[in-house]
Amino acid sequence: MKKSAIVCRCEDITEEEVLKAIEEGYTDLEELRKKLRIGMGPCQGRVCVQIVIKILEKKTGKKVSKISIPTSRPPIIPVPLGTLASDKDEK
Ligand code: FES
Repeated sequence: MKKSAIVCRCEDITEEEVLKAIEEGYTDLEELRKKLRIGMGPCQGRVCVQIVIKILEKKTGKKVSKISIPTSRPPIIPVPLGTLASDKDEK
């Protein structure tokens, strides 16, 4: 059995899964993100989005517009629950 290359390391998505999703009709980067969680890992797509765009362009024959490239957001920092639940005023 041939192993498929990992495209998104953060979410453990393979090239085969991307190709299957495109064949199912997910032909837009945003749709692929929502279906497979591509680009939603800790690296925010810095590693995988460009790879997925190349796969998408090759498979569909269409140029992926820059408008559909998702915006990276800074990671959310965990806050201890006590900080939110505290009734002390911080000055
Ligand atoms: S490799 Fe895809 S989100 Fe990090």
